[in-house]
Amino acid sequence: MANATLVFSLNWSRFVPMESLIKEVESVIENSSITNEKELENFRLELLSRKGKISELFEMFRQVAPEEKKKYGAKINQLKSLAETKFNALKENIGATKESDSGDQTDPSLPLRNLPAGSRHPLQIVLDEMQEIFIRAGFVVENGPEMEDDWHNFSALNFPEDHPARDMQDTFFIDEDFALRTHTSSVQVRSMEKGELPIRIIAPGRVYRNEAVSARANCFFHQVEGLYIDKDVSMADMKQLLLYFAHEFFGKDARIRLRPSYFPFTEPSAEMDVTCFLCNGKGCNVCKYTGWLEVMGCGMVDPAVLDACGIDSTTYSGYAFGIGVERIAMLKYDVKDLRTFFDNDVRFLSQFRSKD
Ligand code: DAH
Repeated sequence: MANATLVFSLNWSRFVPMESLIKEVESVIENSSITNEKELENFRLELLSRKGKISELFEMFRQVAPEEKKKYGAKINQLKSLAETKFNALKENIGATKESDSGDQTDPSLPLRNLPAGSRHPLQIVLDEMQEIFIRAGFVVENGPEMEDDWHNFSALNFPEDHPARDMQDTFFIDEDFALRTHTSSVQVRSMEKGELPIRIIAPGRVYRNEAVSARANCFFHQVEGLYIDKDVSMADMKQLLLYFAHEFFGKDARIRLRPSYFPFTEPSAEMDVTCFLCNGKGCNVCKYTGWLEVMGCGMVDPAVLDACGIDSTTYSGYAFGIGVERIAMLKYDVKDLRTFFDNDVRFLSQFRSKD
């Protein structure tokens, strides 16, 4: 290689023998296997385009000594026509196959391969079902922030200053002013404060409690809050809506009963039970042989709450309810340990298939 003609290659950033550059391009032309239009286009770009390898060779050729020009000029021209001939032949070939048998091998009429289908989380299935039921009854879904101030989570809802729910043991405080909401009832306050009446909302979402994690309690869970405010709303309206919900969700045979209870923001307050859907009220180990399952808290919105939120309690009245999603899902799917919902074990999750 002592007398080889060297040219400076920008690609390689060094002097290389002209001979090896030519060899390289020649082998690219000869060895490229082309079966479709895309590969053919790549071939054209790599070799025959303005920035392709053959143009590059002509560029290098300018560095070749005058006495060598004839030899290399002829070689490069040969390569160019070799590449062009191959390109044209391939083009014809591919065009012909395309006409007889579409180059695109996909057959859109073939049935789909069985892709592994995911499934909705059981809590989402329950939540979606609940939402659909209330939406059919005219309720609108409303959302609120998970980080709340004392006013929306407690004060406006008539919680006394020394109520245990405000305690460090129950609430995750973020700083002096903010905490993670302990219930979705805070969304009631936000929608009442908007001042648009009547109100008919449900507020699904995550809530947080500073509790030791166990089979029956978790530091976060989900609730669906409901609120209806209008003129002349009575407890009978509430009972009717909740009975409708029980029939839709638990089945036509479900019966409900309201037991007196206490919540700071409702007066009167009640706890709603539904006849056990497993034993139809006869008594089994799920309902602890009572025939009834407790499913939600509810009541008539306390006039103090209406007033705190800027609604005239002498003209308007309303009812509210709060449902624990995990509790319903545990009953519905006979899940014994609440933590299973949050372990994200696919062996558990893939067992749930929704109706749609
Ligand atoms: N906020 C209550 C809780 O977290 C649930 C509740 C009870 C909501 C009664 C209501 C209601 O709207 O009327 O335990």
